[in-house]
Amino acid sequence: MTQDEMKQKVAEAALKYVKADTIVGVGTGSTANMFIDALAGMKNDIIGTVASSEATAERLQGHGIPVLELNEALSQVDSLSVYIDGADEFDSGKNLTKGGGGALTREKIVAAASDAFICIVDESKKVDHLGAFPLPVEVIPMAGALVANVARDLGGKPVLREGFMTDNGNIIIDVHGLTITDARGLEDHLNSIPGVVTNGIFSHQGADVVLMGTPDGVETIE
Ligand code: A5P
Repeated sequence: MTQDEMKQKVAEAALKYVKADTIVGVGTGSTANMFIDALAGMKNDIIGTVASSEATAERLQGHGIPVLELNEALSQVDSLSVYIDGADEFDSGKNLTKGGGGALTREKIVAAASDAFICIVDESKKVDHLGAFPLPVEVIPMAGALVANVARDLGGKPVLREGFMTDNGNIIIDVHGLTITDARGLEDHLNSIPGVVTNGIFSHQGADVVLMGTPDGVETIE
């Protein structure tokens, strides 16, 4: 089975977590895109969706799936029923690294507004420790050098994502070379630096369930 076939299987498996008459949070990336395509078959069953990026909103709308702003959604319901998204890495504690596509801040916001986070990945995303995938940090542009210095002090190698601006008008610094043994601690530490909007460690907003595609089928990790 190819990597894309494994992604396709988990994207379809995630449909069982979509409840009728609720609002669904939708992530960003190639696996989330497959989920969006599968969700099109259920578009008349749900109230609508909240998108974690402009690209996701566009794809949802292309299928005729209603997209609400988060503030609008939360004026109708207490919370979104579920958030479904991919990840760049996950560990045994269901901590994640996200932000390869640069949508980490909105992803974290939508995940925080949801009752459950179902993470859809192929088996290549499983790691013992987060950090092999460069850790994305969204930064207000004037704080770029400050954040890079702190990343160096932590033993990382900060690299500006060239020519990229987030949906929020900020830059991304990808921090290479970290071995993350305390995901929650590092998430908090990086987020405490003035100018950091958020970083790509999802420990506070870790997955509740990981659906992992393998050549033998979909494994559910709870
Ligand atoms: C987007 O910003 C990321 O958080 C994605 O969730 C992550 O990069 C996974 O993407 P793929 O599904 O394309 O691997």
